[in-house]
Amino acid sequence: MNNLESFSAPKITVIGTGYLGATHAICMAIMGFDVLGFDVDHHKIDQLRAGKVPFYEPGLPEKLREALASGRLKFTTNLDDVAEFGDVHFICVGTPQAPNSSAANLSYVESAFSGLAARIRRKALLVGKSTVPIGTAERLTAMVADISPLGAELELAWNPEFLREGFAVQDTLHPDRLVFGVTSPWAEEMLRRAFKPLLDDGTPLIVADLATAELVKVAANSFLATKISFINAMAEVCEATSADVSLLAAALSLDDRIGGRFLKPGLGFGGGCLPKDIRAFKHRAEELGVGQAVSFLGEVDSINNRRRVRTVDLVRELAGGSLAGVKIAALGAAFKPNSDDVRDAPALDVARMLYLEGATVSVYDPEANANAHRLYPDLNYVGSLAAAVEQADVVALLTEWEEFRAADPDDLGALVHHRRIVDGRHALDPERYTSRGWEYRALGRPYQPSTVAHRSPVAHRGPVAHQRQPL
Ligand code: UDX
Repeated sequence: MNNLESFSAPKITVIGTGYLGATHAICMAIMGFDVLGFDVDHHKIDQLRAGKVPFYEPGLPEKLREALASGRLKFTTNLDDVAEFGDVHFICVGTPQAPNSSAANLSYVESAFSGLAARIRRKALLVGKSTVPIGTAERLTAMVADISPLGAELELAWNPEFLREGFAVQDTLHPDRLVFGVTSPWAEEMLRRAFKPLLDDGTPLIVADLATAELVKVAANSFLATKISFINAMAEVCEATSADVSLLAAALSLDDRIGGRFLKPGLGFGGGCLPKDIRAFKHRAEELGVGQAVSFLGEVDSINNRRRVRTVDLVRELAGGSLAGVKIAALGAAFKPNSDDVRDAPALDVARMLYLEGATVSVYDPEANANAHRLYPDLNYVGSLAAAVEQADVVALLTEWEEFRAADPDDLGALVHHRRIVDGRHALDPERYTSRGWEYRALGRPYQPSTVAHRSPVAHRGPVAHQRQPL
């Protein structure tokens, strides 16, 4: 993929080397482009220059080292260098949820665009990749034209990014689609050049206006969040009956029109995207006077948060009705496996709620302990699965890491105080556990007592009222 001499390949810059930006910069260099990555964080840039990825992402460190060795990837903390270097500038800074509001904080995006607009002296394309509220690109276009010595010559485009954590390299090098939001044939042509290797590979392309390009991203994430919350709402219905949401999901997924992806019931969604994106979208739709059209996203959010509370209920029920002094093994802290990201992580939220109810909680995550500790230092973090389950009264599986799926119920059983497990992610085979003397609970599934005669399960008390709000 890295022979680009035959056409005039644009020089690429990437502003912001967080999750999205670092992956984009590395993969563009792997594809054969000359790339300059920029961040205001000197420490991050030093790490990247030294071949270290500042977060956990399978496969990315190898690609970073390959890109650095090719000589095509450089990093800087000087925005003047960026302005001088690039033909196409990708802005990949974060748009976190604003404090005390559901809106997105756009200050990093604004300062990246205005900083470049003030410095760029030759025709170039500014491309936003960050997830932003609809209308942002149009507003930034006016701002850039105002600030730039080139005026409207400095063009702006939007190119949303759909990569998933844990699959970032695969999703960037083999995306299922590209979306270009452009306002001129020149901007489209520059983006076609910047993505030539992917387009030559047959990646489907949608060329759109700026607003549609912005909307594609939030609509996609809203759809995914809605699908997850739909099956989790069905889990709530199952809990009020003797129905089993796992069987329900399996049956639904066989309908091609529904499909099985993102229909996995459990503790629900978290992370740096889905939760904040649906809130920001709802907020923006209200500003636009079409709040009613997406008011269901408020329900999607509520269903999702209730799953966390209900997981705590299941642990409490298994513990015999109270969590005070109960020893809990919390397996997982990251918002999903193969990630060390704990932003809005359901697992960590549950661990924290258990702790606040008086339980002694030992948290173990194969990769996210350090990040979790920074966020919630008062929880007890341990370095292994064995240390977490040692003498536990209840084991709570909260992130479905392979290490937890693969664990042997007898090996774990030898370490715990009581063989009781809440499978918050529907990651385990219940029969495998109950046949080894474990009591097994999962959201939306009937209670499964141990099938081994000599163990006396704790009486199942049925669903209890939701008592708390998640953190
Ligand atoms: C998401 C989008 O998938 C991606 O396209 C976008 O670019 C960024 O946001 P990511 O945040 O990496 O990606 O996570 P994703 O794989 O979508 O999972 C989100 C959450 O949903 C996780 O907490 C996961 O555990 C949960 N989930 C996912 C479920 O609870 N059930 C499912 O069936 C699928």
